[in-house]
Amino acid sequence: KYKGIIFDLDGVICHTDKYHYLAWKQLADKLGIYFDEKINNRLRGVSRMDSLEIILENYNGSLTATEKENYSEEKNNIYKRLLEDMSPSDLSKEVKDTLDQLKEDGLKLAIGSSSKNARYILEQLGLEGYFDAISDGNNIEKSKPDPEVFLKACEYLGLSPKECLVVEDAKSGLEAAIEGGMDQAAIGDAVYTQLATYDLATFSDLLKCIR
Ligand code: G6P
Ligand code: MG
Repeated sequence: KYKGIIFDLDGVICHTDKYHYLAWKQLADKLGIYFDEKINNRLRGVSRMDSLEIILENYNGSLTATEKENYSEEKNNIYKRLLEDMSPSDLSKEVKDTLDQLKEDGLKLAIGSSSKNARYILEQLGLEGYFDAISDGNNIEKSKPDPEVFLKACEYLGLSPKECLVVEDAKSGLEAAIEGGMDQAAIGDAVYTQLATYDLATFSDLLKCIR
């Protein structure tokens, strides 16, 4: 019934969330800001700048726009250094086999990620050139929960939102897909939102949604 599947990247295809956490934690510690895993969960799907704003909710003081630019860049440099250690062995067999199966079934596959590092991460995982389309933080004005990143992915695939299924681990991402008019499959913590068309216990459950 679907012609395309749009995958969120961080937390769905791979587990870069732990690196995002470590990088933000390093910056927060430096600024004396309280930061924990729970706050980190609110950063899923949210752009780098919007993430910094969430972290600064616990900051006693105010920063200029330039300081914010510098701190978000500092976080990104720490994050990118952590990504250097990623390799194709960080791509699970279950994820790769499921993606291959979906391709064999004739589905078009896209990435829909708020990250500006999406292409680098795909390269690290050995997935460069694998997806039919990539919509990421570099081609959008507004990050999730705005539907822009997914609408662009549909456009790049040449499909309508109704023909696509979005796979997400974040509430912001599910909201974006709902707003964009795509069906949604939730994985990980996103299943607890009870917002999605399907809840996946494991990645390969995706095959049940499309048959
Ligand atoms: C993904 C992650 C977010 C992250 C965002 C921007 O959506 O889930 O946690 O803030 O990408 O990532 P970037 O790599 O551009 O800093
Ligand atoms: Mg995610």
